[in-house]
Order: sequence, then structure tokens, then C-alpha cells
Amino acid sequence: MSDSYTVTDPSGNSVELPKVQGTLGPPAVDVRKLYASTGGFTFDPGFTSTCSCESGITYIDGNEGVLLYRGYRADELAKKSNFIEVCYLLLNGELPTKAEYDEFESAIRMHTMINESLKRFFTGFHYDAHPMAMLSSIVGGMSAFYHDTTNTSDPEHRTIFARRMIAKIPTIAAAAYKYSVGQPLVYPSNDLDYCSNFLRMMFAVPAEEYAVDPVAAEALDVLFILHADHEQNASTSTVRLAGSTGCNPYAAMASGISALWGPAHGGANEAVLNMLNQIGSVDNIDQYIAKAKDKSDPFRLMGFGHRVYKNFDPRATVIREHCHKVLKAYGGDSDGKLELAMRLEEIALKDEYFVEKKLYPNVDFYSGIIYKALGIPTNMFTPMFAIGRTVGWVAHYLEMVSDPGMRIGRPRQIYTGADERAYTDIGSR
Ligand code: ACO
Repeated sequence: MSDSYTVTDPSGNSVELPKVQGTLGPPAVDVRKLYASTGGFTFDPGFTSTCSCESGITYIDGNEGVLLYRGYRADELAKKSNFIEVCYLLLNGELPTKAEYDEFESAIRMHTMINESLKRFFTGFHYDAHPMAMLSSIVGGMSAFYHDTTNTSDPEHRTIFARRMIAKIPTIAAAAYKYSVGQPLVYPSNDLDYCSNFLRMMFAVPAEEYAVDPVAAEALDVLFILHADHEQNASTSTVRLAGSTGCNPYAAMASGISALWGPAHGGANEAVLNMLNQIGSVDNIDQYIAKAKDKSDPFRLMGFGHRVYKNFDPRATVIREHCHKVLKAYGGDSDGKLELAMRLEEIALKDEYFVEKKLYPNVDFYSGIIYKALGIPTNMFTPMFAIGRTVGWVAHYLEMVSDPGMRIGRPRQIYTGADERAYTDIGSR
């Protein structure tokens, strides 16, 4: 097989472009010299065929429905590992030894508190602010506090930054929720594991004892593992692009949180539950399937379709299994949402439109049903995604800033505006 591609322009001029091949996945054309050699650009809005970087963290085979974190299947990790171990793996490239795990886990426990002044930021928000607005703002605000971790050329700074982000994001997310319901913020309790601590910060009140339900903590752990990374998705690419400018690392994280919020990305889990409420009953499914297929109607089946997966999203399969387990422990599908979701999936998967376009349920189709069963309100679904994905953003950010060849990300464009023209005085227009 040739090590290069030949590109010929309309005038017949040819240029040889190198081929780049990773460990797994299709080869790519290295077009970096294309402009200098030919004066032409490539055009790929939405990046459907463009690799923005080399990365050793996560691999997806969208046709086969495979997701690997550092070579390990995410669905296997969801069954055998735990979220903190997966964080270590994503950050360091290898599974930890027992000693490495203990040191890492303990460090995460010790970094859970946020600066007391940051706590006061919450009270500046309007009472009905969306928790994602608070999350991105407070994480952005961390830029003004943790100056001892912003020298990205220092490995010690990078390590503490990573641990701080992973440890503090549940505290900030739970505080956003507490503020939105008018309850006092609950400080972290470092004798609890990561997910139990989060549940306590979400649901405990000073007036009562609170006991963490291990079924809920286990379900969260699985969901966090499955959301931990997904290579160059929109929010991770945003973190990389912002971080490539050399901005404060916490500011780069805040940009990722903002990108995650959209309904085409992490906001889909909230949108799925809203959609199930809108559909209301199994009897209305056909009507909504027809709306989703109607090009003149903006309605889409939320939680369906994916840019990369053209087969089952392996994360959705694991989450679906957990959905049954959680609902069993929490008294069943009392409002029929799981049944509605399963019928919707069944009907859509047999429908020619969805089959032909290879639209399958994605990670968010069932996650909201679990969150709802655990008592997590709908507007907290996307912050839940952000907690899990923080390690992915951090791992990609650190991989990028550790690369001596890093350059600022700066795409080009096809200009379609007016040609150069002379200024006309206001009285003559
Ligand atoms: N319902 C109905 N039709 C759909 C859906 C859907 N959920 N998703 C895609 N299609 C159709 C499109 O209308 C389009 O049809 P066309 O070729 O006739 O024009 C075709 O399938 C391809 O869709 P695109 O939007 O071009 O695919 P793209 O890769 O750009 O978008 C996305 C992927 C954003 C996930 C899309 O499938 C979608 O909007 N899904 C619903 C939102 C969602 O669940 N997002 C979460 C994604 S996973 C994550 O980020 C966690």
C-alpha cells in the first residue's frame, strides 16, 4: 500500500500528500502542506472526514459499535472496574497498581472542597438559573483561584489540576442544584466514595440523617464510566481549541461545559425526558415517529442517532440493562417512562427511515430514566454528563499541552461575503 496520496487540481497540477495511519482505524491524508503546495484549502464543515489531532486516549469503531478507553472496552470497564480507576486509566494510559490506585483515590477524596469564596458565586445567580449555566461559570471562575496549577509545562501543576477538576466538579454540580432549590449547600464528606459523596451533597439536608443507597451509587458509577470519554466530540474539541491558545486550564474546561450543554450533544439526555413527557403514552408513538421523519417538522427523536455510531452505541446497551436494575430497586416503572422508551426504540428500529439512516439509540436515550428514578431532576441531567466527562476533557487537554508540537487551532474558511468595495457616505446610501 502506498504511503501517500496524490491530489490533482482542476489544472492538472499534482501534489503528493503523506498518509497517516494510527494503531486502529482508517488512514488519513496529511493535508498540512496542501495550502503551501497548491494554494488551495480543504473544506469539511462539521468535520465529518477530518482528524484534528493524534490521540492515544480513546478509540471508537462506529460501524462495529466498539468504544475503547486506552485499549480496554468501555462496556467491560463498566462491569469490572470503577469510575476512579477509569479516571486513572484515561489520565495515565495504564490501569493502576493497588498502591497507585490507593494514592490516586485518596488524592481525589482530599480535593473535594471548593474555595469558600467560590461558594458565594452561587448567590449571584437568579433563582431559576439552569445548573449548566452555574457549572460553566463557577468552573470558569476557578481560573481566578487556583493559580498554583496553571503552568502547563510543569508536570506537578498538570497532575494537581487534573485531580482538582475531577474532585471538585461533583461538589460544584451538587451546589448548583442546592442553590436552585433554595437548600443550604452540603459540604463534601471525604469518608465517602466519589458517587456516594455526590449523592449525599445532592440529597442530604442538615435537618435529617441521610444514608446513601448503594444501588444509586453503583448506577452513577456505571454512568460516569460510560460518559468518561468519547474522543474528539464537540465539547472535547472545544476544550482542545480553547486550550490551544494557552488560556487558563479552568477556562478551557468551562468552554467544554458550555459546548456540552447543547441538545445535539450532552443536552440530549434532558431533551429525551422532555420528549417522553411530550409523547405521553404508547398510543402517540406513531404520530411522533411520523413527525421525526417529516423534513418540514423540526422534531427529532432525541437520544437517537450519532455522528460516529452507525450501529448500536455500546454505552446505550449497558445503560439499558442498568435501567431495569435501578427501576426494580426503586419500585418499578411507575410512570411508564421505561416502557414508553422501550416501545419507541422497538418501533423506530423497525422503521425504514431509521434503518436506512442507521439511527440507533445513543448513550442518552436511557440515562435520563435512571437519573429520574434516582430523584435527580431533569435540569441536572446534563451536569451529570459533565461530571463523568470532566476526566475526558482533562485527559485530552493534558495530552495536547504535553505535546511539544502543539500549535494554536485555527481553521480556515470559504469566504462567501461581498467583494471589496468602497465606503459610501451615510447621506448617499
Ligand atoms: N431523528 C430523526 N432524524 C434524524 C435524527 C433523529 N434523532 N438524527 C439524524 N436524523 C436524520 C437527519 O434528518 C438526516 O436526514 P437526511 O440525510 O435525510 O437529511 C440524517 O439522519 C443524518 O443526520 P445529521 O443531522 O446529518 O447527522 P449528524 O451526524 O450531523 O448529527 C446527531 C448527529 C446530532 C446526534 C443527530 O443524530 C441528532 O440530532 N440526534 C438527536 C440528538 C441527540 O440524541 N444527540 C446526542 C448525541 S450523543 C451525545 O452527544 C452524547
